[in-house]
Amino acid sequence: MTWHATVLTLFPAMFPGPLGASLAGRALEEGLWRLDAHDIREHGLGRHRNVDDTPFGGGAGMVMRPDVIDTALAAHRAPDDARPLIYLTPRGRLLTQADAARWAKGPGLVLLCGRYEGLDQRVIESTGAEEVSVGDYVLSGGEPAALVLLDACLRLLPGVMGGAGSAEEESFTDGLLEYPHYTRPAEWQGRAVPPVLLSGDHGAIRDWRRDRAEDATRTRRPDLWAAHLSQRMAGRRSPADATGSVATASAGP
Ligand code: ADE
Repeated sequence: MTWHATVLTLFPAMFPGPLGASLAGRALEEGLWRLDAHDIREHGLGRHRNVDDTPFGGGAGMVMRPDVIDTALAAHRAPDDARPLIYLTPRGRLLTQADAARWAKGPGLVLLCGRYEGLDQRVIESTGAEEVSVGDYVLSGGEPAALVLLDACLRLLPGVMGGAGSAEEESFTDGLLEYPHYTRPAEWQGRAVPPVLLSGDHGAIRDWRRDRAEDATRTRRPDLWAAHLSQRMAGRRSPADATGSVATASAGP
């Protein structure tokens, strides 16, 4: 079955957006995955198709109505739909590489994008939606977050990324940031490529890359470094897709 993403949004024109270009776009054309973006406003109330209202208790902004969201969901998600329902919100837990790997193996996702101050809490609870954030910053809405989340899943679908070997690379990096990359010319603006990379000594190259990956992780991401160390202590070498790290993936072709 084709991996199927359904997005509920007030801005369906944002989809597929950047996912219509590059490898994900080609894969979409080839039918390797499917995308439906539906306008929540079609389920809005009254002549003006209202989707939001002022918050009980006062305060700034508007809150999306639970009845409208519920109706929109019912229209686009069958009761026996096995796909996880995800609500993109800065209040959610942080997206990880492990999430993307798990969701890429499943049937697809239903993504709920909020605007304004977000969704009424009751519809989040009644639907059992999983609340996910793409980072500790506030976007104008869930749509760019949904695009990020989809991209992370799509590159893991079989046949979407041309280049083989990326999965191997990911497990090699083992919860570490990637080592730096170099290509021709060997000298550029007075800067030489690290000589070991030109040595042909594959053992030395592997060691050098490992050292650089460890240096980068230790200095830039103490949180990932601590997780890496405790994993090493435990004597486990789990595959990258189980580390929960967002930092292990190579960028691909
Ligand atoms: N909506 C607004 N900001 C967001 C974030 N950081 N992650 C997910 N959804 C969001």
